[in-house]
Amino acid sequence: MQNISHVHQTPPAGANSDWTVPQNWDRFSADEHAIWDRLFARQSAMLPGRAADAFLRGIDVLKLSRPGIPEYCELNARLMAATGWQIVAVPGLVPDAVFFEHLANRRFPAGNFIRTPEQLDYLQEPDVFHDVFGHVPMLSDPVFADYMVAYGKGGLRSLGFGALDHLARLYWYTVEFGLIQQADGLRIYGAGIVSSFAESIFALEDPSPKRLAFDLFRVMRTQYRIDDFQQNYFVIASIDELLKVTVETDFAPLYARLDMLPDIAIGTVLEDDVLIG
Ligand code: PHE
Ligand code: CO
Repeated sequence: MQNISHVHQTPPAGANSDWTVPQNWDRFSADEHAIWDRLFARQSAMLPGRAADAFLRGIDVLKLSRPGIPEYCELNARLMAATGWQIVAVPGLVPDAVFFEHLANRRFPAGNFIRTPEQLDYLQEPDVFHDVFGHVPMLSDPVFADYMVAYGKGGLRSLGFGALDHLARLYWYTVEFGLIQQADGLRIYGAGIVSSFAESIFALEDPSPKRLAFDLFRVMRTQYRIDDFQQNYFVIASIDELLKVTVETDFAPLYARLDMLPDIAIGTVLEDDVLIG
């Protein structure tokens, strides 16, 4: 996940000017690699039939020559071959403009730490399991890879309109918590869902969250929660359509209208909303 408030405004000691740091793969302990392996086994066993075809196709990119946390040199060779993307290590959350600049240049910043055994099911800041297991499979899909680049460029543009809070909701409800309607049923593709055992089940099966057909403007009006499972999800018809509508729409007039309108509270269903499932 990439949240929108940050502590540091300049790179911490040891980081490059673009906030990247060396991964230092050798620094991870055997116990830390074992946490990755446990989470990886648990998620890859439960995701067939739940995750989008695009995500499932991308999982193999993560099956490297050694078990444990992926070593980025090897991972990036595969990801680069698929879509031109690479993973770069960062010390934690980075400033918005830095984050967007990386995305626009096909670099995905990943937190350079892994959760502890006590945090297996829940943590606030994105760790390497969320960032790599959650995001890399979709980044290996050519259409989604282009969407992420477009989002990075759109993010840089949004800063000039003071519209980041609205645009961030698009990221939240697609890249992090997106659902997709496949011919064979509803599937998850958002990294925040697929990296969570419990939310992978909740998002598809629990009766309480509202599952609404994706609507760009509606999404950008909708609040979200960062401390619990989502109370609404937005369902795209296809990745192609998501890319098309976001690339072909000029967001400037939308930002202007959004400024005049109240937010929509989480869990709300409006008259025009299309409920799915
Ligand atoms: N078309 C958007 C704009 O005019 C850019 C964008 C593309 C934003 C994809 C998000 C996702 O700002
Ligand atoms: Co994320």
